[in-house]
This record gives sequence, C-alpha cells and structure tokens, in this order.
Amino acid sequence: MARIVGGIMSSHVPAFGRAIARNLQGDAYFKPWFDGFPPVQRWLAEVKPDVAVVVYNDHGLNFFLDKMPTFAVGAAAEYRNADEGWGLPVMPPFAGDVELSWHLIESLVREEFDITSCQEMLVDHAFTLPMAMLWPGQGAWPVRTVPVCVNTVQYPLPSAARCWKLGEAIGRAVESWPVDAKVVVIGTGGLSHQLDGERAGFINKAFDQRFMDSLVADPRWVTRYTNTELVEKAGTQGIELLMWLVTRASLTGRVTRLHANYHIPISNTAAGLLLLDNQPLG
Ligand code: DHB
Ligand code: FE
Repeated sequence: MARIVGGIMSSHVPAFGRAIARNLQGDAYFKPWFDGFPPVQRWLAEVKPDVAVVVYNDHGLNFFLDKMPTFAVGAAAEYRNADEGWGLPVMPPFAGDVELSWHLIESLVREEFDITSCQEMLVDHAFTLPMAMLWPGQGAWPVRTVPVCVNTVQYPLPSAARCWKLGEAIGRAVESWPVDAKVVVIGTGGLSHQLDGERAGFINKAFDQRFMDSLVADPRWVTRYTNTELVEKAGTQGIELLMWLVTRASLTGRVTRLHANYHIPISNTAAGLLLLDNQPLG
C-alpha cells in the first residue's frame, strides 16, 4: 500500500519566481525566506517520495471565473506551467501519476465529494513555485505529481470544515492505493494577505502563528471559523490557508513538526513554511 510520509505547507508568492529567475535568494529581502528551505530539501532527499499530491488554488489560469469547480483533481500524464510571468524561466513539465489520479478521483467520489476530473490541466505559480523551492535547480522533477485544486478565488468557497473532510478523504484514498509508493502531500497558499480593496497589505501575524501551531496540536482549530471570519482574520487571499488545512487533514498517523519558517513580508504576503512528519500509528 502507498504511504503518506509527510506534509509540506508553503506560501506561493509570484515574487519567489522572480527571485529564483534572477538568483536573488541570498539578497537581504529574500534570504530570510529562502533560508527556510534547506532543512526541507534535506528531508526530501532522505525520504525520497515517489509522488507529490499538490493541493493548491488556481488563480484564474486553468479555471477562469466562468467555470469554477469547488474541487478539481488532475488526471493528466503531464502538467505544464502557464503562469503569466514575473521572469520565471521555462520549466520542465511535471510528470503526472495517472493511476493515482484516478484512484484518488474514484475514492473521493465514492466518499461523496463531487470532483471535477481534469485530463488536461495547466498549472500556475501556486503549483510551480513551491516545487521549484523544494527541489531547486533540477533539470527534471524527481517526483510524479497529482494536482488537487480547491476554489479560493470565487464565491462561494468551501468551508474550512469541508476542507478538513476533503483532506481526511485524500489521506484514506492515498493510503488505500495498492501500490508500494511514498507520497508527500504539499499544500500551497497563505498565510495572511490581502491584495485588493481597502485592506490591501493586511497581515495578521498573531493569527498566522496560532494557525501554524494549531496544525500540530489541535489541527481542527481553524474549522470553528466561517470563511467570512477567516477573511476578516487572514485577508481575502489569506483564505488560501485552507490548502494547509487539507494537507494537514490528509496525515492519518502520528504527526510531528520537523521544521517551520515564517517571514513578513514577501510582496504583500506573510510567508510561511511548515514540514510535518507522518509516522504510522502503532
Ligand atoms: C501574492 C500572493 C499570492 O498568494 C498570489 O497568488 C499572488 C501574489 C503577493 O503577495 O504578491
Ligand atoms: Fe495565491
């Protein structure tokens, strides 16, 4: 059976791509953020997952406002970056894992999640940049991938409570895949930020830190809030923290924190990184 070896949560600001493209990772502005990655890269090099399930929100690239699935799962043989720019160089395509994709889609639909299955899917910065930071300088990606998209772009969004249940169902699905594979779940988005409106630039450090801590000890903590409350606390785009929640809920074993980083700001965002280990129970 497949096993989920851990969860990695990361912000996905486009400026990270610009920093990578221009080799600015060591600059004073970016260094506190990029310095957070080597421990996670070392863990990945040691654990060597075969597949990454990447939980992220598309930003109007693959799904525009005219057709917005609440939950979508990629079932393609490969995924290409089609993000709008910021100087990001051409990337090798990401290999899919079609068998795991269909296993996941079938399991989720059986568990009453009405999934949009996507046999073609372009990916944006929310998918590509965390991959580029976790496996830097690669000519080819060392994992196969399964994209899972959660709508955080257009009202109405799924609640935190629903996202928790989705994550649990993803965990059960992956761990019932009858293939001997190590799977890492990666959730991208957040933490607090707001890009538009009167509160543009809004950041809430106290809330972010409470949320990051909760994911270890009390992981359902944030499900007590409605999305309106979460937008109040974390900003209109801070609601992307739902990807962190899906990822955490997919970890079915004994969960410990191996590494965390938090830095304010990169662009308009409170940038967070978290690595959680998932050991089988018993
Ligand atoms: C920024 C943050 C995001 O999550 C995003 O998708 C785009 C931009 C930012 O802070 O610039
Ligand atoms: Fe975003």
